[in-house]
Formats: sequence, structure tokens, C-alpha cells
Amino acid sequence: MIDLSTEYLGLKLANPLVPSSSPLTGELDSAKQLEDAGASALILPSLFEQAIDYEQKQLERFVSSQALGHYEAQSYQPIPEDYNSELDNYLERLQQFKSALDIPVIASLNGISTDGWVDFGREIQQAGANALELNVYYIAADPEISGQEVEDRYLKLLDELRDHVDLPITMKLSSQFSSVSNMVLKLQQAGAKGVSLFNRFYQPDIDLESLEIVPHLELSTPMESLLRVRWIAMIRGSVDISIAATGGFHRTEDIVKALMVGADITHLCSVLLKQGPKHIAILKQELQNWLEEHEYESVTQMKGSASKPCAINPAALEHSNYMHVIKSYAQD
Ligand SMILES: Cc1cc2nc3c(=O)[nH]c(=O)nc-3n(C[C@H](O)[C@H](O)[C@H](O)COP(=O)(O)O)c2cc1C
Repeated sequence: MIDLSTEYLGLKLANPLVPSSSPLTGELDSAKQLEDAGASALILPSLFEQAIDYEQKQLERFVSSQALGHYEAQSYQPIPEDYNSELDNYLERLQQFKSALDIPVIASLNGISTDGWVDFGREIQQAGANALELNVYYIAADPEISGQEVEDRYLKLLDELRDHVDLPITMKLSSQFSSVSNMVLKLQQAGAKGVSLFNRFYQPDIDLESLEIVPHLELSTPMESLLRVRWIAMIRGSVDISIAATGGFHRTEDIVKALMVGADITHLCSVLLKQGPKHIAILKQELQNWLEEHEYESVTQMKGSASKPCAINPAALEHSNYMHVIKSYAQD
């Protein structure tokens, strides 16, 4: 029997197939289906900084206007007794998942400011999360902010969160750093236990008639997995940290590639939204078959076997390959 188990963030997982944050991991019914189909852990949808921040501001306005006896206070509705904040709902869902599921449940925080919102990590820990993913969805649009400042922001947020929780923390990163490898190394040195590579930035579109920006969420395609595989191959040898491959993992062969170059797990999102939660069972079976056919005994044996220090020629992943690739283009 092939051993599919893997270790991620210090957690022993039955296999490397982990659904990442999505509507499927936010509802108990679909979460149960994911677990039944073979998911080895799951990441809850994110608790967003904006949601926490908005609620806090509302509460502060309410409390201060009440305290001042300000006439405007009359225009504020008292907080109903059964009022549940977004954070309360998140914690409730986490507790519910923890008691209904056997697999580890990883919580997710998503935001960018250093205004203390990550303090809520403590409550998430108390509610029973097995680990915490911090997704800094930061778009560096301000030309006054340097790359160094952007990196410092990630490190500061990690540092603040570590002050509040003992849970293993993993950082979900985009690929848009001047030096991804150096950033991952710095995060490791700052105490991150893992990274998820890479976050996808959603590309807003423009409506040409109204000239308005239209939110646009397109699910990934398998081609996107190659960027992840390449970077994980280049980074794996230089860091001692858990790595989740995320973005474009739809097919077993791509999952195998990610593991071979050194990912500990692959996240699954778009493929499950397209094919349904039960698709995990197919991927798991195919992974098992692949290992068997290629005479691997376990995922652990295969993990990292083709990463930079081992089989794959580093030059093929780095710059020197560029010229050959361009020259190899042949028009049909
Ligand atoms: C509908 C939807 C909701 C998502 N919600 C979150 C979220 O709350 N937090 C987060 O970090 N990522 C979120 N993601 C990103 C996914 O977890 C995943 O990283 C991304 O889709 C890339 O993986 P994929 O190619 O398998 O889809 C969401 C993606 C989709 C499509």
C-alpha cells in the first residue's frame, strides 16, 4: 500500500491534497464532502481585515455617541442582543468545523494594514484552529512605497501575529517580489512555519460602456501551476519551511510535479469549484496509481526528489534557459 502521508506545518496529514480557502471550505456540508472524498485538511475562507475594521468602527461610533449622550445617538440603532459580529461568526464556524470534522482545520486572515487587526489571531487560536494562514493581499500601487517597505510590511504583520499566537503560521504570497527566494528566507527567519506559493491576483476589467471597473474572478487553468512548480524547485533547497503549492493544480500530473520539486502539499480550489468536492477522491486515486506505476513507496520518498539540489538542472529553471526557449518557438 502506497503511503500518501505528508507533513505540513508540523501537522501529519494523510495525503497532500488540501482544499484552500473558497466557498466550499466555508460551509459545513461541502467541508464534510471534502473530508469524505479524502481531503487531508482544509483552509477556511479568510476573515478579512476590512470586515473586522468596519465592525469595530461601527461599534466605536455607537459606544462613543452613547457615552456622550450626543443627540445623534438617537439615530443609531442599539446593538441587538443576538447581534453576531463577523468575527463571532468566524469563530463559531471554526468551532463547528472542529467538532464535526476529523481533519485539521486551518484558519485564514487576510489584510494589509499594520493597525492591529491580526490581534484576532488569538481568538482564532482559542477557537481551536490547527494553524493559521496569513494572506497579505497587497497591491503595491503607491510609487512612494519601495519594495523594501512592502517586504517590511509582511514581516511586521507576521511578527505581530506571532506575538498573539503560538500556532504554526504560514504566509500566502504572490509571486510579485523582486526576489521571491529571499522573501521566503526572510519569512522563515522571522518565524513563519510555511509559505503558500502563489496567491493569484484577480484582474479587474473595464466596462467600455460605463467606464466602470468591473470585478472579475476567473478560475485558474493548469498552465498557472508551472510558475509555482518552477519557483518551488528553485527555493526548496535553500529553505527549511513547509511549502504549499497553490494556483493551477487541477491535474494529477501537475500535483506530482509540485511534490517532486519539493512542495509538501498542493492546495486545490478552482478544480473543486468546477468538478465538485468529490473530485478529490479521483485525484487521490490517480496520485496513488502514479506512485505505484513509477515505483515510489510513498509521497515522502517522492517529495523533493527533483528539486534544485537533486535531479533538475538549475540552469533550466533560471535565466540561461530564456534564450533557448525563445529560439525553440516554431510557428505552425
Ligand atoms: C471563489 C473564491 C474564493 C476564494 N476565497 C479566498 C479567501 O477567502 N482567502 C484566500 O486566501 N484565498 C481565497 N481564494 C483563493 C484560493 O484559495 C486559491 O489560492 C486560488 O484560487 C488559487 O488556487 P486554484 O488555482 O486552485 O484556484 C479564493 C478563490 C476563489 C476562486
